[in-house]
Amino acid sequence: MTQRVFPLAAFSSSTLLATQAFTPSAVSPRTRFRVQSILFESDLATDVSEGAQRDIASFEAWASDYGIQRSEGFQLVGQEDISSNLDVSAITTGDISAGECVLYVPQELILSSYGAMEQFGRLDEAEALLTQNGYEGSIREYYLILKILKELELGQESPWTAYFNSLPRFYSNGASMTPFCYSCLPPYAAKICKDERARLNNLSVKRVVPFLSNDTKGNTKAWKFAYNLAYTRGFDASDGSNEYCIVPMADYCNHHSTESNVEMAFDDFGNCYVHATRDVPANTPLLLNYGESYNPSFLLARYGFLDESSPASFCKILPSHVSNEMKDLGYSHETMLFYHNGEVAEEVWDHLLYVILGETDVDMQQMFYQAHMAGDYETKSSIHSQYSGQTVQGLIEHIDTFLLDLDAKSSKVNYDAQPPRVVCWAFNDEFQWQMSFSFEFAHLWLLIRFNTYSKIPMPK
Ligand SMILES: *[C@@H]1O[C@H](CO)[C@@H](O)[C@H](O)[C@H]1NC(C)=O
Ligand SMILES: *[C@@H]1O[C@H](CO)[C@@H](O)[C@H](O)[C@H]1NC(C)=O
Repeated sequence: MTQRVFPLAAFSSSTLLATQAFTPSAVSPRTRFRVQSILFESDLATDVSEGAQRDIASFEAWASDYGIQRSEGFQLVGQEDISSNLDVSAITTGDISAGECVLYVPQELILSSYGAMEQFGRLDEAEALLTQNGYEGSIREYYLILKILKELELGQESPWTAYFNSLPRFYSNGASMTPFCYSCLPPYAAKICKDERARLNNLSVKRVVPFLSNDTKGNTKAWKFAYNLAYTRGFDASDGSNEYCIVPMADYCNHHSTESNVEMAFDDFGNCYVHATRDVPANTPLLLNYGESYNPSFLLARYGFLDESSPASFCKILPSHVSNEMKDLGYSHETMLFYHNGEVAEEVWDHLLYVILGETDVDMQQMFYQAHMAGDYETKSSIHSQYSGQTVQGLIEHIDTFLLDLDAKSSKVNYDAQPPRVVCWAFNDEFQWQMSFSFEFAHLWLLIRFNTYSKIPMPK
């Protein structure tokens, strides 16, 4: 993959200093219908349209003015991704020892959901609406979104404007996809991507917010910007406070499933410290673990990237109903795993066998279930051996269905115009394409297919 890497000093060059004025594409047939919103958007100090340029230099100046402290080697570096968007992340240019602090962010700069609740007061009507629609679990994020919108509205008077101007405006996550994108994805990924979109829509509870202007309430792009910021750069503080917050600068650390090298902590005053969890040699990316290491589909849906560092992924057998007995046998997307070395989790075999027995021999199914519950691996093993032909067949069929589906979806893509790895993503109003996803998954599934063929499963 060709990625253009900018030299470390790139951000001090004047080209990135100013946030460029929004220039609508003259050829877009939709331009006419958008004039209204473009006029309005130019009123915001932060251009929230997808093509907006990121201003990293002003953000770095802002960070030191506002008391963010970094270790000497802590640097932001930029790369152009495959869609020519600037991808910026944190690295260290010097050696760091385990335990060393690489970043300090004062509490005042942290965008926090509880802070927002305190500032604005609780909005009972909005919370009731969210709860009614099944989104009571997203109330903290909702307040954080309102906080971001309020600061956007304040523009140059907001202390966060330089931070906002440094951020991506273009996303390839589930919330930014179109119905066409979902139709190109395998079923599980499509489902959770659609869920993200549904959440964005459901969290856009506007009418009952007294402190936002009508313009802000009506600015769909600003809502989406705020939603994406809250969901892709916010996280649980994991210090027992149940706080959901965004820590500017710390949020520039990328994700790694198995080799993260930094973590965040907070002191009693709410100041954030990022320290190394292991020795980190010079010129290494600083990496957090965003969680869900075994669910690359989730990371795709939430953040819009394919996690190639994930050691395993959910095998995506999706029964129409998951019974309690299935749960007892370990059915969940955290356990039903295909490992990237081609191994298959025992839970997958157990589940397949349980389903097959349910269709052929209910007594045997119960015997298998009871043996599992009693920890009687000998009995389990012997039932597995007896039915290994059927379970292997079942798994191969599942894999082949997935591969055929992937193939059908890939064929929707215009290969002449696009790189060959594409499944495809289309975003927002215009279609844009990005290669990703399908090759990695197809390789994994083929690997497992051949492993499965070559081995009779013998769970311990
Ligand atoms: C709100 O969420 C529900 C359930 O997740 C979903 O069915 C619905 O489509 C969402 N509303 C919108 C406007 O997307
Ligand atoms: C905002 O919109 C509401 C409802 O559409 C309207 O009643 C109100 O007068 C508007 N406020 C302003 C300041 O324009």
